[in-house]
Amino acid sequence: MTWLHDKTTTFLQRVSEAKEKKVFPYFRQFENIGPRVKVGSGSYLNFQSNDYLGLSQDPRLIQRAIEGVRRYGTGLGSARLQATTVRHEDLEARLARWTGKEACAVFTTGYQSLVGTLQAFLGDDTTLVLDRLCHASIIDGMLVAQGQCPDLEVRFFKHNDVASLEKALEGAAHAKKLIVVEGLYSVDGDMTPLSDVVAVARKHGAAIMLDDAHGLGTLGPTGRGVSELHGVSREIDLLVGTFSKSFGTVGGFICADRALIDYLKLNARSFMFSASLPIACVEAALAALDVMEEDLGLFRRLADNAVFFREGLREIGLDTHGASTHITPIFLNDEVLTMKFGAYLFYGADVMMMPFIAPGVPKGTERLRCNVTAVHSRADMGYTLEALAKIGTMLRIIPHGRTTHASMLKKAWWLANHRLRGVRRGGLAYVRHEVDRYLNPPREDG
Ligand SMILES: Cc1ncc(COP(=O)(O)O)c(C=O)c1O
Repeated sequence: MTWLHDKTTTFLQRVSEAKEKKVFPYFRQFENIGPRVKVGSGSYLNFQSNDYLGLSQDPRLIQRAIEGVRRYGTGLGSARLQATTVRHEDLEARLARWTGKEACAVFTTGYQSLVGTLQAFLGDDTTLVLDRLCHASIIDGMLVAQGQCPDLEVRFFKHNDVASLEKALEGAAHAKKLIVVEGLYSVDGDMTPLSDVVAVARKHGAAIMLDDAHGLGTLGPTGRGVSELHGVSREIDLLVGTFSKSFGTVGGFICADRALIDYLKLNARSFMFSASLPIACVEAALAALDVMEEDLGLFRRLADNAVFFREGLREIGLDTHGASTHITPIFLNDEVLTMKFGAYLFYGADVMMMPFIAPGVPKGTERLRCNVTAVHSRADMGYTLEALAKIGTMLRIIPHGRTTHASMLKKAWWLANHRLRGVRRGGLAYVRHEVDRYLNPPREDG
């Protein structure tokens, strides 16, 4: 044993306690993927996924990925400098066209796109201006850049606060400034005020990097994200996306002017020193683009589902802090309550939602995050809303008797549909699990 083990002790003690109390929500082993997943003998409604259009299960993507693997095999044997295929270049050209930019660089993950781009462009003569709630991959990119450029200045502004952004820009030590914002913040479910950010950036001569991981392929009339929604696509200098959400696969990309992309491909360390995106993912991403361009109804379905779910939450009286998209946080503002609510949903109602507690979110703003997708049915969402109402009442978060305004008949259908689909997905094991649960219901102190 070395000091390495000492470091783990207190931390793992907390994990063991959470497991004993059955509130540890991570690493559940799925036997399939989709809006309903099998875990052990149970069948659960899944509201934790970022597969917003359900494309990871689309036969068109699966078929194209299989064909790609048949042609190129399961790996490419090196990083992009030595292992770029025709299909990587096809995908980059296609993404550039789709986003209205000159060029694109495809990375192996979205995380690597952000880290590599920040490392490649930032220097000792730059000020980086960040929203205080930006994603870990942006923070890590900043840390890598700071490691190589100690005089790089980093300034944070208050979340989505344009006055605070302007103050940060005014106080910047360097003339070269880069603002980084996310289009749609995935833990709070709110959008950046992008038109205002663009106006302030232009006034102060700053470049803009938009990480639209959760907006590309979901928001805007044609799914081209938050910059399409605000009509400012041309104003974004570096547009970042990922395939790990609405594209239903894995990979990341940056779209920008050709010179910026050419520079990036020879300077971003995470692009040059990590394996090329496997061809299965390249083909799946190309097929996802086909689907998104052909079927704009997907975005409408996602938006309609989000409206239905939010409206239900409002009727029940759960607090979403005014969320307006498919990402609907349910604020409970207490760590124990949040973990408990998540566990009750899982064990008592077969529903999975991710609890967010400190340090992931500030203390006092703990929440369950609920991601609605285009492939959740009304019955899935209706059943879940009723479950939220029941558990919310049990935990005294909402007054007794609160439910959605749906008729009794509809509620009965939602429940029957849930049970039937559970049996279909979980089989006999699920029936045994249900009988056992009926005979031994979960206890409140669990
Ligand atoms: C806002 C944001 N940016 C970047 C990433 C990283 O993307 P990827 O999963 O492709 O590494 C994520 C993923 O969680 C994200 O939510």
